[in-house]
Amino acid sequence: MTTPITITAIETDLDALAGAGGKLAILVTPDGKLDLAARRVNRLTKGAVARLIASEPWEKIKPGEGFVMGFPAGLTAEAVSVVKLDRRPTVTEARKAGAELAKFKGDAALMVAAGNQGRMRELALGLTLRAYAFTDHKTEEQKPNQGAALMINKPEDLTDDLAQVASLAEGVFLTRDLVAEPSNVLTTQEFADRLEAMRDLGLSVEVLEEDALEALGMGALLGVGQGSDSPSKVVVMQWTGGGEEAPLALVGKGVVFDTGGISIKPAAGMEDMTMDMGGAGVVAGVMRTLALRKARANVVGLVGLVENMPDGRAQRPGDVVTSMKGDTIEVINTDAEGRLVLADVLWYAQDRFAPSGVIDLATLTGAIIIGLGHDNAGVFGNDDAFTNSFLKSARAEGEGAWRMPLGDSYDKLIKSQVADMKNVGGRAAGSITAAQFLQRFIKEGCPWIHLDIAGVAKVTTETALAPKGVTGWGVLALDRMIRDGYEVE
Ligand code: BES
Ligand code: MN
Ligand code: ZN
Repeated sequence: MTTPITITAIETDLDALAGAGGKLAILVTPDGKLDLAARRVNRLTKGAVARLIASEPWEKIKPGEGFVMGFPAGLTAEAVSVVKLDRRPTVTEARKAGAELAKFKGDAALMVAAGNQGRMRELALGLTLRAYAFTDHKTEEQKPNQGAALMINKPEDLTDDLAQVASLAEGVFLTRDLVAEPSNVLTTQEFADRLEAMRDLGLSVEVLEEDALEALGMGALLGVGQGSDSPSKVVVMQWTGGGEEAPLALVGKGVVFDTGGISIKPAAGMEDMTMDMGGAGVVAGVMRTLALRKARANVVGLVGLVENMPDGRAQRPGDVVTSMKGDTIEVINTDAEGRLVLADVLWYAQDRFAPSGVIDLATLTGAIIIGLGHDNAGVFGNDDAFTNSFLKSARAEGEGAWRMPLGDSYDKLIKSQVADMKNVGGRAAGSITAAQFLQRFIKEGCPWIHLDIAGVAKVTTETALAPKGVTGWGVLALDRMIRDGYEVE
């Protein structure tokens, strides 16, 4: 488990700057204004800061970026970063400054002399989220990641913000850890155990085992897991902080490993399918954040945990399964398994909770990566207001999201000769036919959003707030959507 670094806010004390250990950061505005701390550091270093900001390289760096001076004379700190940042920066700039400081910091202790910087919450969020490394399986002893102190003029004003930032970071880190975890460790059982552990936070957590899923008639979900030695499970997490309101339901695809089943995937790159539980990982992360910050909202998170394996007992192409809804599905391709899992969990979520809306998240199709690459998740929705509120939240949080179409002509592509539908629609519009399949399990009148996160859950380059690898995409946007639209007074 990866624990976020500790960030504290402390009173500005200019006399503490000379003797600060570890690493030190000061802020200078793009037009070269030094605050009191920057001026003090400039004096202690005999004008090094002033010379730096008069130099050409300083002109070239962007807001949020910093310039590092190593082993500066006049200071005990091992390095000083002079960060270019306005007193009133944009959210993106402030988060970028935080993320850059996380990279500058490494394992060392960091002191940020920030004076009266106006966006400390965002700077702290960038700092915490970027200071992530998944090292659970490294045997070399890891140095403890030291905390950061934010030296500001009114530290007491930042207390609530820092608590919020910590709740968000804990949610995002849970998602990242789950997505990064290899599948021999994160079995369906281990996943369920980690969710059950969140009862300590006040979440209600139920684990439905195979006999219960059978009794509910979840033939679509059970068919996917039937070739695996890991038992299929559905986990239901409830956070009831919002009185009598109908809950918002979050539903996640939790395929702990996707070999493709009998329609087996090629060997090259198959190891990436350890992340095929990314949707369930985001649902878990959001529920953790909601519980930690004691959100005044009712949200229920449901995840379908299965493993898609080839085996003597595995489901075959051509098999027909019956969903909990009662509709029958011809399984043309056992590798289109995520939609089979979601079909039953979506139906169960609506049947049991009569939610005010449903949002599902899934690493559902390779086709969404062809369409949108790794910068945007695919967003499908049957209700413009509901869908737009998500898009707005995602934009505010800097999480790429792009709306995709739905329509009857796409739905026709999943007609089956032998059953009510088939589970694939051919090569054309692969992400859309997958979404159409899911829509068949959404009740009339229920606002629904489907997020295809196959391209954004894990990436091969660093992103704004994460080192390369697992991103935790979606936790910030969903938490914001809930904060802005679902909390009661
Ligand atoms: N888990 C995959 C989708 C995926 C691909 C996620 C790449 C992350 C990265 C999904 O279960 C799958 O195999 N989809 C198939 C569907 C096809 C058989 C219709 C695909 O995208 O190829
Ligand atoms: Mn698959
Ligand atoms: Zn899959």
